Amino acid sequence: MADKKAQLIIEGAAPIELPVYSGTLGPDVVDVRGLTSEGVFTFDPGFMATSSCESKITYIDGDKGVLLHRGYPIEQLAEKSDFLETCFLLLKGELPTAAEKEKFDNTIKNHTMVHEQLKNFLNGFRRDAHPMAIMCGVVGALSAFYHDSLDINDPHHREISAIRLIAKMPTIAAMVYKYSAGQPMMYPRNDLSYSENFLHMMFNTPAEIKPISPVLARAMDRIFVLHADHEQNASTSTVRLAGSSGANPFACIAAGIAALWGPAHGGANEAVLRMLDEIGDVSNIDSFIAKAKDKDDPFKLMGFGHRVYKNFDPRARVMKQTCDEVLGELGINDPQLELAMKLEEIALSDPYFAERNLYPNVDFYSGIILKALGIPTEMFTVIFATGRTPGWIAHWNEMISNPYKIGRPRQLYTGYTQRDYPNK
Ligand code: SDX
Repeated sequence: MADKKAQLIIEGAAPIELPVYSGTLGPDVVDVRGLTSEGVFTFDPGFMATSSCESKITYIDGDKGVLLHRGYPIEQLAEKSDFLETCFLLLKGELPTAAEKEKFDNTIKNHTMVHEQLKNFLNGFRRDAHPMAIMCGVVGALSAFYHDSLDINDPHHREISAIRLIAKMPTIAAMVYKYSAGQPMMYPRNDLSYSENFLHMMFNTPAEIKPISPVLARAMDRIFVLHADHEQNASTSTVRLAGSSGANPFACIAAGIAALWGPAHGGANEAVLRMLDEIGDVSNIDSFIAKAKDKDDPFKLMGFGHRVYKNFDPRARVMKQTCDEVLGELGINDPQLELAMKLEEIALSDPYFAERNLYPNVDFYSGIILKALGIPTEMFTVIFATGRTPGWIAHWNEMISNPYKIGRPRQLYTGYTQRDYPNK
């Protein structure tokens, strides 16, 4: 039911009345669907001002630097919740009771193993393949193993697919790392928590099983929480668009992984570390800031800026605090952290960044923590994808469990008008 009306007046045509809806938070939206019958399209490359859907999962206030998951601020979830509880919240809409949490944790634990044949699938890749290339392939291939649960209109199939994806992403991520390192893959263990298990599969070997530091496991878990969901970002919108064709959930998540890989999106955490390596020393910061400001130079300050946040990304603040905790726990004095902090200080004092509301985003500090945890740079976006899986699945499920239409944008065509094939 429209709350208000808008009028679109195009010269020489009668005014077009459009409904306007208000959400519980955020800007009003103008429903432009009626424009097609008036022979008019909207034009919004990059979807700067387009709401693609109605959702109840996550709300972002870019001006205030607010991020809510089902109404709960990310700062509170990062401090008081854990990743599996956040997964439950995103999927179900409410925090679990103690009994629900125990059941959910156990259900996830009972789905962490992958089919043994999947190991053979990995063997088709070169050992030096980029981990995200392997993730795209392996996650997409999961649908080949689960013929029993691909009816997207069956809520039970959607539920078991969500469980399988959340449970198996860490196992696959660790398998991909072990494959590139030439080490044997480690099976998941049901006596460990989700993030302990991931670090176990990543860094233990059959020759030596070391206990996982609870501080590092907590830091890993918090990194997953900070990446869990972020409204209609590029990869989540990709998952929704793929899902709108009726594709199975594994194919949709594989599409999301592919979209996340780009350096403008989830690939930024890897790009931040490479940028800090390239800058090398505080004395070079000014020249790189100049490059970032130069319109003729494609270089951008990785980990800075955001389509929605025109204030600090609240996740970056928590990430920076976690960074200090992890480096303190490990007794690491990382020169790259010093360099990052100096870069942040100089950039934030520069009018170019201030005028454009360019602040550090979630990716600016995450790479430094991941490096301190011993995770190789090329695995950073795999970590992001593992953390983002519950968000992708929650949005896919929200779309499929409500009336939806296949996503099919239109265009402003500026090519040739009709012409005839030349007589030869
Ligand atoms: C993520 O959408 C999400 O929610 C994503 C994410 C999630 O959780 O899913 O939050 C995760 O992807 C975080 C962003 C990670 N990417 C980076 O850190 C890469 C560097 N950042 C930029 O590529 C850029 O800031 C984007 C892509 C993040 C946002 O780009 P926009 O919204 O399209 O903004 P824009 O390119 O139009 O920039 C506006 C102005 C431009 O200058 P003018 O043309 O106005 O003169 O700011 C400039 C840009 O050139 N600018 C930068 C810059 N980012 C924007 N200049 C230098 N360095 C930068 N990083």
